[in-house]
Order: sequence, then structure tokens, then C-alpha cells
Amino acid sequence: AMAADTNGGRPRRRHVLLFPLPYQGHINPMFRLAGVLHGRGFDITVFHTDFNAPDPARHPDYRFVPVAGVVSGPATVSIEDVVAHIVAIGGACEAAFRDRLAAVVEEYSRDAVACLVADAHLLQAFQVAARLAVPTLALRTGSAASFACFAAYPMLCEKGYLPVQGTDSQLETPVVELPPYRVRDLMHIGKNSHEVVRESMERAVAAVRVSSGLILNTCDALERRELAGLRRDLAVPVFDVGPLHKFSPVGDSSLLCQDRTCLDWLDQWPPASVLYVSFGSLACMSSQDLDETAWGIAGSGVPFLWVVRPGLVRGCEASQLLPEGFEAATRGRGMVVAWAPQQEVLRHRAVGGFWTHNGWNSTAESICEGVPMLCRPYFGDQMGNARYVESVWRVGLELTGELERGSVEAAIRRLMTDTDGAEMRARAGELKKAVAECTGKGGSSRVAIDKLVEHIMSLYK
Ligand code: UDX
Repeated sequence: AMAADTNGGRPRRRHVLLFPLPYQGHINPMFRLAGVLHGRGFDITVFHTDFNAPDPARHPDYRFVPVAGVVSGPATVSIEDVVAHIVAIGGACEAAFRDRLAAVVEEYSRDAVACLVADAHLLQAFQVAARLAVPTLALRTGSAASFACFAAYPMLCEKGYLPVQGTDSQLETPVVELPPYRVRDLMHIGKNSHEVVRESMERAVAAVRVSSGLILNTCDALERRELAGLRRDLAVPVFDVGPLHKFSPVGDSSLLCQDRTCLDWLDQWPPASVLYVSFGSLACMSSQDLDETAWGIAGSGVPFLWVVRPGLVRGCEASQLLPEGFEAATRGRGMVVAWAPQQEVLRHRAVGGFWTHNGWNSTAESICEGVPMLCRPYFGDQMGNARYVESVWRVGLELTGELERGSVEAAIRRLMTDTDGAEMRARAGELKKAVAECTGKGGSSRVAIDKLVEHIMSLYK
């Protein structure tokens, strides 16, 4: 319960202002955090760009404040462009955000002065808030290990790990300062894009350093050592409140419409028999890779639910994505949807494996349901997440090298029907329990949420 606090007889509301980065993988954890804080009695105000704007009708209890300046995404969906877009968003909406924030703070001034939680990628939001004397907290939506990697980026460049030259021996070099990473697990993009990646990490670290605290969507059972390292290296408190979807309602911040018919379809299959395949909201593949994926899935003989998002293959209409003959070859054994209610799919007893790109949300959602993974990371923090899945938690295997139907087929079988896969599934079951302890009564994530709420209260004037 909130402390009794009044202002001229009227109870003072306590406002938390949120500003998510407008990408699905960042919107979801921010809205889950909103759900948690709203449940603790805070009023929620969400600032958002016109690009990937949330639907206010789905969150009737929240107030939405549009911030002009960002109306479209990157022209192409190459990762270089996405990173450049992420860096550009803060600048594009800085002036409008300053006006909106000032107006909101003025309006709420009869209440407890608001605190802003912004995505760590929005450095300008932190700077604008500081000028208006609004305290800030940073939400970083990836793992603790990935943030440690952000912070270590200058060191990684200085020691010559980065930029990647692309030779095989360099890629396999262990990064002794950041175990268990190898060079290939680090956040890198082609040599030409090195600068923009460096800039984006540097800005996120700067945002955290100027904030009053770092909120991470992870937990003690997954990253105890990494969290301890961050607490040692950062001057601000770190709140390991994850996985946040365990504390908040499902699917309420999806930008695409989730096809729920797949849940009924799953009902017909025996426990742990179906492979769920999804590469998240951004990853893009060539049409050749899509063909190899399709024929590998077909050849494995395993039942599957596959999310083929519009835009999965650059410049291709959704209707012509799948190779000719694929449907006939897999009839009765597979379902393809444009977007799935992922957490509910992973929770379904029929799902026995997840072929994922290892976005942090997908990775955490899979772990929470005890589903082992076939890892095929594309960019950014995904390679590092896959490394943890395979070698730290040992709840999955990575599919490396060129995508080729034969190796795809073999990897799927290994995960779904071999003893190897069964062992990964057993470990995934154990990890699920360990994470459930963190999110359960008296668990570390709940304690961290209590501390976060207390901390937010202490920030109000
Ligand atoms: C991005 C980056 O890729 C990721 O590495 C980073 O950590 C966060 O931002 P994205 O690629 O979209 O995110 O992947 P992910 O982090 O897994 O987030 C995808 C979200 O969309 C998940 O919460 C997932 O449940 C949801 N989803 C995915 C659906 O609701 N339906 C689907 O069919 C697929």
C-alpha cells in the first residue's frame, strides 16, 4: 500500500512516466514493468512515438502521450539500419519530448512529482528529464551479461577483440575478460557498421550512469555472477526484477495481431512433441535460408508450429514466402501463423522445443516454461544469449554454419527425439523451477520489485 499522503485534502497520486523504445522486444518488457508498478498503486503515463505506437484501447488504465518526431522505421530491415534507427530515435523526438514532459510534470505538480523510467537506448530522454529535475530509472531489456558487454565495449576494442576481422580463428577466440563469450558471441556487425554499434552501446551505458538505477529483466537464478559484476562496477543500484512477464498479464502489448487458433491446433499433439519456430519481430532471412529452413523442418518429420511473420524475407509478400510443395509435404503435421501468442504457446504441454533467434524476451520466456531451444541467433545480443543457453544453462544447442536442410533436419531431431535433447529438456525443467523460485513468494525477483518500489518512493520530492 502507498503511504497516506495528501495535498490540500486530496490524496496525492504517485506517477510513474514510461518511455519505451518503439520496438516489440523493448515494448513488451516495458509494459510488463508498467503492469507491475500499476499493481503497486502507481499511476502510469506512457510516452510513445508515432512509429509502433501502442493501442491505448488495450490499456484503459494508462494515460498515453504521443511524442512527435518518429513516424517510420528504417527503410530496410538490415540490422545496421535498425541500430542506426535506434540511435536516431532519441534525437528525432528530443524537442517534442522536452515539451511533452514539461507539460506533464506541470500538470502533475499537485501530486508527487513523477519519476521517469526510460529505455536505456533513449539517452536524450534522460538528459531532458535531468534538466527538468525529474528523477530517472533505466530499463535495459537484454540480459545482465549483455549489458556488461555494452559497458566493456571500449575495452574489447582496445584489446583488439573488436571490430571483428572475420577470420575463423579470431571468431573462436575466448574473451577472457567476459567468460563464457567468444569473439563470435559479442555484439558485432560488419566492419563498416562498427561505429554505429559502438555509439549505441556507449549511449546506453551513459544513460544508465546518469540514471538513479538500472532495471534488468533477469533474475538471480539465471545471472547471479553477472549481476554481482554489474553491482560492483556501477555506482547506481541494479534491480533484477525479471522475468517480468511472470508478474504481468500476457500478450497485451503485441503490435501484431496474435493468431490464437494455433492454441487449439496444439491440443491434438502428445506432450513435448511439437517444435515451435519463431525468429522474433526483427530478424530477416534470405529466401534461400527460408527454403532450407522449410525443407529441414519438413524432412525432420516432427510436428511444428512456425511463425512466418510478414517481412521475414526481405522484399517478399507473405503469401509467397514458403517454397512450393512445402504445404503438401507437411500436411496434417504443421501449422504456419503470421504471429503467435508466444508465451501461451510455450506454456502448452504439446510444445517440446523452440527454434529461436534468442532475442532476450524469447529466451527468458522459453526458460520460464522449461522448453529447450534450438538456437539460431541473428544479431546484437542474440549470439551471447545463445552462448548462455548452450554452454552455461545447457538447455539447448546452437545451429551453426550455413543453413542447410540436412543439418537443420539433424539438429531438429537431436533436440526433439534424441536422448541428448531429452537431457536438455530435463535441465530446462530444473531451470524453470529455479527461476520460478525467484519469481515466487519471497523470491529474489519479488524482493527486487519491493526494493524498486521503495526506491521509486524515495525519489519523489
Ligand atoms: C529485439 C532483439 O532482437 C533482442 O535480441 C533484444 O534482446 C530485444 O529486442 P526481438 O528480436 O523482437 O527483440 O526478440 P525478442 O526479444 O525475443 O522479443 C520478441 C517478443 O515478441 C517476445 O516477447 C515474444 O513473446 C513476442 N512474440 C514473438 C509474439 O508475441 N509472437 C510471436 O509470434 C513471436
